[in-house]
Amino acid sequence: MATTITITGAGGQIGYALLFRIAAGDMLGPDEKVRLRLLEIPQGLDAAAGAALELQDGAFSLLEHVEVTDDPTVGFDGANLALLVGARPRGPGMERGDLLAANAGIFGPQGAAIAEHAASDVRVTVVGNPANTNALIAASAADGVPAERFTALTRLDENRARAQLALTLERPIDSIRRVPIWGNHSATQFPDISHATVDGVPVAEAIHEKVGDVRAWQEQQFIPRVAKRGAEIIAVRGSSSVASAANAAIEHVRDWVRGTEEWTSAGVVSHGEYGVPEGLISSFPVRSVDGAWQIVDGLEIDDWARARINASVTELAEERETVRGLGML
Ligand code: NAD
Ligand code: LMR
Repeated sequence: MATTITITGAGGQIGYALLFRIAAGDMLGPDEKVRLRLLEIPQGLDAAAGAALELQDGAFSLLEHVEVTDDPTVGFDGANLALLVGARPRGPGMERGDLLAANAGIFGPQGAAIAEHAASDVRVTVVGNPANTNALIAASAADGVPAERFTALTRLDENRARAQLALTLERPIDSIRRVPIWGNHSATQFPDISHATVDGVPVAEAIHEKVGDVRAWQEQQFIPRVAKRGAEIIAVRGSSSVASAANAAIEHVRDWVRGTEEWTSAGVVSHGEYGVPEGLISSFPVRSVDGAWQIVDGLEIDDWARARINASVTELAEERETVRGLGML
């Protein structure tokens, strides 16, 4: 049996970077056949149809079928996995509330369509921004689907954090482990090095040897660099990250489906873990076990880290209040 994967916004930039890697087996492995459903809005259909033609021309042996549609009932039909990439970007003069309202109008109906038409084992990854709150909106509209099946992508933030540590320490990327992201996929996020290791040695010790004052380096360099990397990419490239975002989405889904040996980061629903209000979709350190994310428990959080987690979680709670105030939750 093939896995059916729905990609919304498939005619967009991240969609184009995702489709061919999925068809090549990068997400589910070399033995899993895939059926792709490319869901767009009418203006994006031609771009998605063009990508579908190129998928044919890729002659991928794992690719069983491609469907292009602007109808969510068709787009989510039988979906085992859904990558919700399509979102309303912030336009000129748009306030944060306007952006949340516009996206609630997308992610609410998509959540409802997932509940009605997707497979009973559906797992949803939200990439479109504001990813955490979009995931919350979709989950709330998906009657009967457990909230644990809705996640927001924060793997890109973790990859950015690990890459910055590897660069600073002049060590290979795979030597850096356990660098969770807490909170929102936004500039308030907290990339946490307090449990991180480099070749098994605490990262904080290695950073101390390099730069001296670890706390000052975190506050002035590391955290702003990671948390504002999305804006840096936009400033340098002229548009937001694409290939690195697609890569992170592939790693997120791969780990969710196939399991992890090490911690990673994902935006998952809180049941009150680490004081994060219940129901928010917040990034946590997680493991994937038997096809489900589990929040890593029992970590020591000092007062400095606690304040940073609280700040990002407060932003998530405010986003939830804004959407509630609009009557969309
Ligand atoms: P893009 O503008 O190139 O593509 C978006 C596509 O979504 C367009 O083709 C558009 O037609 C489509 N779309 C819009 N509304 C839709 C709907 N209701 N249903 C289906 N499709 C719809 O943008 P992109 O560069 O591919 O980025 C997509 C999103 O991902 C943005 O919101 C961006 O901010 C976000 N993003 C998230 C991360 C992350 O780490 N979470 C990283 C990078 C970008
Ligand atoms: C990113 O982290 O690269 C994006 O979420 C930035 C953005 O605003 O699209």
